[in-house]
Amino acid sequence: MYSVELRGTTKRYPGGGAEPVVALDDVDFAVEPGEFVAVVGPSGSGKSTLLNVLGLLDDPTEGMRLLDGTDVTSLSVAERTAARKESIGFVFQDFHLLPTLTAVENVALPTAFDPGDASHRAADLLSRFGLGDRLDHEPSELSGGQKQRVAIARSLINEPAVLLADEPTGNLDTETGESILAEFERVKEEGVAVVAVTHDPLVEQYADRVVELTDGVLVGGVPDGEGKAERERASRPDPETASAGDR
Ligand SMILES: Nc1ncnc2c1ncn2[C@@H]1O[C@H](COP(=O)(O)OP(=O)(O)O)[C@@H](O)[C@H]1O
Ligand SMILES: [Mg+2]
Repeated sequence: MYSVELRGTTKRYPGGGAEPVVALDDVDFAVEPGEFVAVVGPSGSGKSTLLNVLGLLDDPTEGMRLLDGTDVTSLSVAERTAARKESIGFVFQDFHLLPTLTAVENVALPTAFDPGDASHRAADLLSRFGLGDRLDHEPSELSGGQKQRVAIARSLINEPAVLLADEPTGNLDTETGESILAEFERVKEEGVAVVAVTHDPLVEQYADRVVELTDGVLVGGVPDGEGKAERERASRPDPETASAGDR
């Protein structure tokens, strides 16, 4: 069973009078437990939309969405909040840290544990990311890279089944980037499905699979190469073999 899956999923945004924008176009996507998938593609190709739909932050216009084999295509607000808290860790591109909370409070915030345990776990996670001496700093007192590591620590506090990250190494030097990726590897070895949007070749190196989005069309979305994009490609006559065919 896949940790997270999209079947024939389309996401359209209203175009405000003009043509609607097709941000995801009939996408098949599936990630196995313990798999690390990197999503690449040019700006505007639908990468953030894909993460938002996977992370239950936004709903598909058409098609299906499953989490651990359960249909979560359309949920009530309460169900969605519960499912997110239970199963999903999300690292936003711009971190979304609360400015008036300290690092440890930010990490402990979305916790499902009791408050005492939560600050311990939060402090633990922050130490793992080299921020053991920054626990009581507020975001304004942290560098971009440090804020990013706080955001990653927060995404792991509830031991999610699915970890979604938008450019997780975007603001980091190579060494810090590598330590984050090593942490993702550790997490994935515990069976977590990791999906990271990236422009960073280092992330692609660590990934088990790299999938590519172009204008909302996803190639390589399903582990065995049986996705829609591949089927369509295979059924299209290849001009070279077609002309050579009737020898
Ligand atoms: N809330 C929105 N309303 C309308 N159009 C949007 C919205 N969010 C994204 N889009 C459009 O959808 C397409 C994909 O955007 P996005 O998923 O942010 O791409 P990426 O993350 O790859 O840069 C773009 O054309 C973008 O302008
Ligand atoms: Mg984006």
